[in-house]
Amino acid sequence: MKKKLFAISAAALLLVPVTVALSAAQDLGEGNLRFKNLPQYKSYLKNNESTEMTEYAGSVPHNKHDGINPLPVGYKHAQPYLKNLWLGYPFSYEYKRARGHSNALEDIMHIDRVDRYSEQAGLPATCWNCKTPAIPDLLKTHGDAFWSSNFHDYRTQLDYEKHSIGCQNCHDPENKMELVITSVPLSEALARQGKDWREASRDEMRSLVCAQCHNEYYFETKDHGVAAKPHLPWDKGMNPEQMYEFYANGQANPDGFKGAFVDWTHAVSKTRMIKTQHPEYETFHDSVHAAAGVACADCHMPRIKIGTNVTISSHHWTSPLKSEEGIKAACLTCHSDKTPTWMRQRVEYHQQRVWRQLNIAQEKSVRAHEAVRQAMEHPEVNQKVLAEAREMVRKGQWFWDYVSAENSAGFHNPTKAMDTLAKSQQYSDEAVQLAIRATNYAIASKLDAPIQELVPPIMEHSRKLQQSQAHLDSHPWLKYLPKLPEAELVWDGNKKLR
Ligand code: HEC
Ligand code: HEC
Ligand code: HEC
Ligand code: HEC
Repeated sequence: MKKKLFAISAAALLLVPVTVALSAAQDLGEGNLRFKNLPQYKSYLKNNESTEMTEYAGSVPHNKHDGINPLPVGYKHAQPYLKNLWLGYPFSYEYKRARGHSNALEDIMHIDRVDRYSEQAGLPATCWNCKTPAIPDLLKTHGDAFWSSNFHDYRTQLDYEKHSIGCQNCHDPENKMELVITSVPLSEALARQGKDWREASRDEMRSLVCAQCHNEYYFETKDHGVAAKPHLPWDKGMNPEQMYEFYANGQANPDGFKGAFVDWTHAVSKTRMIKTQHPEYETFHDSVHAAAGVACADCHMPRIKIGTNVTISSHHWTSPLKSEEGIKAACLTCHSDKTPTWMRQRVEYHQQRVWRQLNIAQEKSVRAHEAVRQAMEHPEVNQKVLAEAREMVRKGQWFWDYVSAENSAGFHNPTKAMDTLAKSQQYSDEAVQLAIRATNYAIASKLDAPIQELVPPIMEHSRKLQQSQAHLDSHPWLKYLPKLPEAELVWDGNKKLR
């Protein structure tokens, strides 16, 4: 959930007119307020709290690339090269830590990833899919044209308090609050695997409700499905190799991309990239805990006391490590022979090691882009070998992002996280070797320097800054970006400014 707001598929944007006008504002009802007398609602309100961090996670929004400024602007375990790695894609403008579900609408309406400098968001309404329980109503009114309509058209209808992620995303109020799947993309992904969530066990549902949003996806195009509708790339499996293969060989599957799938082209190395988004469910699905039958809700929705004899499922979805009480409720139910301190240290043991390799993989990805850049600028280059180098850049970064975009710093599946990062490093190293070979070793000595000297991290970048030539001149990689026309903000949250 990289408040991380969701990605734009560049391919979708090029092929799809995102301007279908669907203005008629609709009354979306009381939403979550309809349930305010239930005790679960009171626990849900705790999602508003965003003041606590843990060693590697927590709920204080901060810039994930900034390790210089203290929280809430930056974070001690920052990933300094994020803006470099996503250059040319809106993720490079702003990327923040996730916080509680009740903030989802407010946060997506303020992120610089969504263009607020023009009437046309350049972003389809499909991004609301994982931010509000109003989607079934909107689909009823607008049909499949909803997905590719203009994101801005719904800002004023969606009230933060009533319509942020809530009860009706996971429950059917007309049927005793049974757990249900309301996400169309998830139902369809399961159907393609021959599964129907209506036949899932209670334990499976306790993870599937989360899999509605905590997963990787791309947007269909009108040539291959419904314009801008989210699609989960699970047909070959949920591991990074399998999803990469799905994206590489579209012809082999019913969605049939024409050639390899592309989210955006990297501004500097001109590599056709894929962005991973928050693959929590995919990371978790073959972990030690999943194999033992543990569900997301076991750790993130433990039973809590609300009176002497009454317990409910906590509806405060957050890190279980924030307090001793949290760890007791979430972990010691099963790990009853351990103390909260032992449990926390055990999690951090995994996270620290994953984090170390994550940052090495990240630097190797930057070096891979730089090697391709230098090869491109070299007067004589073997284009065929350069194309092979780009393929390795794309693959290396996809494997890195599978772990980077996942929000547990590896805890959900430490073994897979380490394997994925090792592969990322191998692919990126191969990209560098290929780029060097493409110039007949001419660039080898120029690349022989620490990455921080070769390519400094880009610390400042935003849509506003991209309107200034001085900014574009401030870093060798920013020179590859086009200058944006000067413009003022049009939208601030759900208020129109001009
Ligand atoms: C065995 C317990 C366990 C299970 C099962 C589990 N998680 Fe987690 N989850 C954790 C721990 C521990 C962390 C790391 C928290 C930290 O570092 O503070 C975490 C972190 C997260 C985070 C990031 C929290 C933050 O503060 O930013 C998200 C999101 C998340 N999990 C979602 C899920 C989803 C979705 C599932 C099911 C697919 C799941 N988890 C299954 C224990 C679990
Ligand atoms: C992200 C999915 C999700 C959302 C959103 C959600 N719930 Fe739940 N809810 C669950 C899960 C999972 C359970 C546990 C069900 C089980 O174990 O069978 C649950 C259980 C319940 C129960 C059964 C009693 C209990 O505490 O276990 C009630 C009642 C309930 N939720 C009400 C609400 C209300 C009211 C809201 C909105 C404020 C809400 N839920 C939002 C997933 C969700
Ligand atoms: C409708 C989409 C949706 C569903 C369903 C959903 N999530 Fe989330 N989740 C999000 C989004 C979006 C965010 C980030 C919100 C923000 O930062 O404003 C988030 C954030 C989180 C966080 C981070 C909270 C923090 O304090 O930092 C955790 C943990 C989490 N979700 C766990 C779960 C679990 C467990 C389930 C299933 C029981 C679940 N989510 C179901 C969309 C969803
Ligand atoms: C519903 C039961 C259950 C819950 C809840 C649970 N675990 Fe586990 N956990 C297991 C089982 C089963 C294993 C498998 C190993 C075993 O049999 O001891 C395991 C293994 C582990 C391991 C070792 C494997 C690995 O991945 O390194 C760690 C660490 C761990 N759990 C941490 C936690 C933490 C932290 C929490 C709470 C956030 C938690 N567990 C909650 C059942 C649970």
